[in-house]
Amino acid sequence: MKIVGYALYPMMILIVLWMWSRVRGMKLEEIVEKSADEHHEVNDIFAEHPRGGDWLQFESWQKESRHWVSCGEWCVQVKTTINTFTEHKKNGTKFACLTAYGYCEAHVASGAGVELLLVGDSLGMVIQGHDSSLPVTIEDVAYHVRCVRRGNQGALLMADLPFMSYYSEHTTLKNAAVLMREGAQAVKLEGGAWLANSTRLLVERGVPVCAHMGLTPQSVNHLGGYRVQGRDPVKAQTMIDEALVLQESGASFILLECIPVSLGKAITEKLDVPVIGIGAGPHTDGQIMVLHDLLGLYPGKPAKFVKNFLASNSSVHAAIQNYVSDIKNEIFPAPEQCYAWFRKNNLDCGIWR
Ligand code: KIV
Repeated sequence: MKIVGYALYPMMILIVLWMWSRVRGMKLEEIVEKSADEHHEVNDIFAEHPRGGDWLQFESWQKESRHWVSCGEWCVQVKTTINTFTEHKKNGTKFACLTAYGYCEAHVASGAGVELLLVGDSLGMVIQGHDSSLPVTIEDVAYHVRCVRRGNQGALLMADLPFMSYYSEHTTLKNAAVLMREGAQAVKLEGGAWLANSTRLLVERGVPVCAHMGLTPQSVNHLGGYRVQGRDPVKAQTMIDEALVLQESGASFILLECIPVSLGKAITEKLDVPVIGIGAGPHTDGQIMVLHDLLGLYPGKPAKFVKNFLASNSSVHAAIQNYVSDIKNEIFPAPEQCYAWFRKNNLDCGIWR
């Protein structure tokens, strides 16, 4: 009799646990159903709460991060996908992107409302201390993708294909596969219309692509330095045409670096895909910054488009939150972080054709 009694206790505990998991499961299904009208699919839902599973404190989490969606008294954390950005473009909602190289910054940034984390090859400068991104290898990027992936709380994880890692069709596919296997959800390549074929190849095989145009740091030697691009009307028009070619080839994003405001505006208006800007003016759909610039950590004179958000905030988290809200409220970038069409009188009259 006693033996039967001892056996019953663990069985009862198991039954209670099973019933609890069923109740919780049903609630989750309800949540998924309710949030469907907000364009979140079942697989957009994060399986686990990163802080350990107190599902009822949704209000405070929501304030902290846009990835939290409330449904009645419950909340779920949703992942950002490329569809999120298409929606943003359609609705005119500005979005914030940021580079990340490690676990902690990925955790803080994605928790503070950054919707896209880029493991940029700028890691060659801000992490490794080189004077350009050229020495960065695919193994370096893969390592940092692994670190960022562990800290990411639902932002889209994009990774750079570094210098000379996409010189042929074979290397492009092979190296993109390395990054995607490590957890990247999109890859970024630098260049213009010549990327059309690689873009098509990648997209056909399920790899979302961001084409980085304007100032392309991997070509710093060819460009003769880190300079504003597209000030010449012919080059500006070529950039517009090539952005359209890349969109046609299937690129999910175009990233514009260091170009005049009017050119950033023209390209953003002409494209259906979301345009991310860095030093490309306030009109692009989203903005991106290098984390170390945002925190004022990188030694030397910062570029004109850089703003140190830590200078006016008391913590890294607050600085990133401020960056996100300034983008959403169209406060950043301000005119002092932008490039004019004409260098001499700092006038941007918006003429490119
Ligand atoms: O590598 C990088 O960090 C980048 C950003 C400048 C957009 O490409």
